[in-house]
Amino acid sequence: MKKIIFATGNQDKMREIREILKDLDANIVSLKEEGIQLDVEENGMTFEDNAVIKAKAAAKMTDAIVLADDSGLEIDYLNKEPGVYSARYLGEDTSYDVKNQALLDRLSGVPKESRTARFVCAVAAVFPDGEVIVKRGTIEGYIGENPEGENGFGYDPIFYVENYNCSTAALSREQKNAISHRGNALRAMKAELEKRI
Ligand code: IMP
Repeated sequence: MKKIIFATGNQDKMREIREILKDLDANIVSLKEEGIQLDVEENGMTFEDNAVIKAKAAAKMTDAIVLADDSGLEIDYLNKEPGVYSARYLGEDTSYDVKNQALLDRLSGVPKESRTARFVCAVAAVFPDGEVIVKRGTIEGYIGENPEGENGFGYDPIFYVENYNCSTAALSREQKNAISHRGNALRAMKAELEKRI
């Protein structure tokens, strides 16, 4: 069975990735499980750039297929902030309660139709022969008036989806995976992986 290394230390992401790629004939392991330590500067201007930077850095350290992702929240009214800076917005160590409240404050008085936003995820694959493939997935929504929900992480409590009329933090993991940016990007990548393993 082929091995695929996913360049993340995030256990939530690993769980999501294993669920989505479960019927692929491959053993999916994290960098940590593989004993690889990676410290790369994500200095790209786009989600795609950053995903490729991470995947290429990890690929130098193994002969296996490597996947990496980069994701974030784009709020249209704020010129697509926080965008590629989503994790670093107001500082890496600032709690998401604070980050989410700061974004809600910046949108104070802005009507629903101007609060449109999306989560974006780029997934990059680097194959042992050097081939690089990148897939993007998105989920459209809007920034609610208040945080809600206990599931998910990051900006989920303020990101609302029209079809469910609630935030993505109020969805179950299965519901979110089925429509999420990461789910969509990984499902697109799965089709490419199937052709190559
Ligand atoms: P990275 O992809 O690990 O670099 O992280 C991007 C950042 O974007 C995360 O730390 C979160 O702040 C945000 N983000 C990405 N995906 C999601 C999501 O599904 N829900 C909430 N926040 C997200």
